[in-house]
Amino acid sequence: MRRNTTQRIYLDYNASTPLDPRVAAVMREIMEQDFGNPSSTHWAGAPAQDRLAAARRQVADLLGCSPREIVFTGGGSESNNLALKGLYFDSDRPNAHIITTRVEHPAIVEPCRFLERLGARLTLLPVDGSGRVDPDDLRRAVTADTVLISIMHANNEVGTIQPIEDCARIAREHGIPFHTDAAQSIGKLPTRVDDLGVDLLTIAGHKLHAPKGVGALYVREGIELEPLIHGAGHERGRRAGTESVLLAAALGQACELAGDLSGVPRIQALRDRLWTGLVEHFGERVVLNGHPDERLPNTLNVSFVGRIGAEVLAALPEIAASTGSACHSGRVELSPVLAAMGVAPEIGAGAVRFSLGRPTTAEEIDTALRLLGGA
Ligand SMILES: Cc1ncc(COP(=O)(O)O)c(C=O)c1O
Repeated sequence: MRRNTTQRIYLDYNASTPLDPRVAAVMREIMEQDFGNPSSTHWAGAPAQDRLAAARRQVADLLGCSPREIVFTGGGSESNNLALKGLYFDSDRPNAHIITTRVEHPAIVEPCRFLERLGARLTLLPVDGSGRVDPDDLRRAVTADTVLISIMHANNEVGTIQPIEDCARIAREHGIPFHTDAAQSIGKLPTRVDDLGVDLLTIAGHKLHAPKGVGALYVREGIELEPLIHGAGHERGRRAGTESVLLAAALGQACELAGDLSGVPRIQALRDRLWTGLVEHFGERVVLNGHPDERLPNTLNVSFVGRIGAEVLAALPEIAASTGSACHSGRVELSPVLAAMGVAPEIGAGAVRFSLGRPTTAEEIDTALRLLGGA
């Protein structure tokens, strides 16, 4: 089969998403017109202040919270760091106990490891073969010293959705602040904070067609955080530094668009078409990683049995997707997520994550299937 080498297919929307033209339009307007400092009280500051307030309202509307509960940040990693370190430092208890899971993004794992070096005690909850935590394990892990619980809403590698409502209920019963990293679920699943029952929630702009370098942290009214950046009292004292109106407005616009989930069933149908096509071609030589149902509608993580994921993708430069495991000097190292799920090394080695997005077309999926079938 001849390959059309000019066609490039992007199936890595969990890594990052292209800027939505409607987000770009808002940014263009601001870049050309508004330069004022949103803290200034004169004519140049007022429009910037209005833009910032509108953006905060757009983010808050998506989450069903008050704009006062939104802190703009520099991205998902910063939001996670602010949540974890902010709660820990505010607790004023160096040997405080933190609960999280074995399948979190490094932007949760690494701040937790840092806090462990400062004296915190850490419990990493296990997951089952589909990547889900058991709320009973959380219940058993809680101690009188637990100062925070952080469990991701949906996993970036395999897409498995955690039972957040049940876990948050347990946290609430014990009066422990509950954070969820929703970087991957915004715009794909409902994420209203009162329905989820969470106290803190992370958003990462570039996962929802806003630019990189902007995010937000939802902080429920009454939850105290020590800021990471001290300075003038921006963001109600929770993150010092003159706000980037440009990036905040971009995130606001992206959140407004993300609130419309009506396009999600189309993306899920394309994701399932990809899976069905792979099964038709590879039969038992392809295995699904992650939960069969409780999974992000855009995410398909599969293992090509007997193959190395990186080699499958290297043979198909037209397709942009991710591997689940890293190859170091000829040895394949399972990703911590697949390892925590108990995926056998020889299966995990063949893992590839395909993640679809709003721009994905049926033609792209069919072409990807054709290419994969010939690889
Ligand atoms: C689940 C999850 N959390 C956090 C992040 C980090 O977000 P950012 O790249 O905006 O720092 C990512 C990005 O890959 C992610 O997938």
